[in-house]
Amino acid sequence: MAEQASRPRRLPPGSRLVLATHNPGKLRELRRLFEPFGVELIGAGELGLPAPAETGASLEENAALKALAAARATGLPALADDSGFFVAALGGAPGVKSADWAMLPDGRRDYRAAMARIAREAAGNPDRRAAFRCVLALAWPDGHVDVHPGEVVGSWVHPPRGEGGFGYDPMFIPAHSGLTFGEMTPAEKSADDHRSRAFAALAAAALG
Ligand code: IMP
Repeated sequence: MAEQASRPRRLPPGSRLVLATHNPGKLRELRRLFEPFGVELIGAGELGLPAPAETGASLEENAALKALAAARATGLPALADDSGFFVAALGGAPGVKSADWAMLPDGRRDYRAAMARIAREAAGNPDRRAAFRCVLALAWPDGHVDVHPGEVVGSWVHPPRGEGGFGYDPMFIPAHSGLTFGEMTPAEKSADDHRSRAFAALAAAALG
């Protein structure tokens, strides 16, 4: 297991941080968030790092294992994220398996089908609560790991509404709004979503 010390370690201005993702969109977004704190982000893709298998049973475990693998491979602190959509009537599914629920045999992803499966399996249950969760993990080459969770709670709807966003966005209405994430502009969604809440927790603990 990764070491989880009680006191989070800080990333002083001038630090270089490896982002353990091959997703250019995430790299762009996180670079923008870290820049004001004087922390430079380097993409794992730019360093040719392999992507480890996500074998953890929770978002925390998956984020920590990805961040630790990148920190150990590079000798630099590393950041990883893991996220998912949790439906109360399904005991928290798809949760950590959110990407798998959308996977087609040919490797492409079909979120319309994944959203329809949620609606079908939860149909008999009046409990409509759902949540998006994100965990950001910061790891160091010596094995130290800090995890920072963020959550936004709300309810699910089907059929999906809105053409914006990605993944399960069109079926989720956060409690603080009447719109689905799919009906919001990117700025409206990211003003108060699970990722921005996880980043706020990380910034309070480790930056500045
Ligand atoms: P990952 O963290 O990039 O592995 O994503 C996990 C899964 O959760 C994917 O299927 C995403 O589509 C889904 N997911 C995570 N965050 C969001 C979100 O903000 N909107 C919609 N789907 C999301």
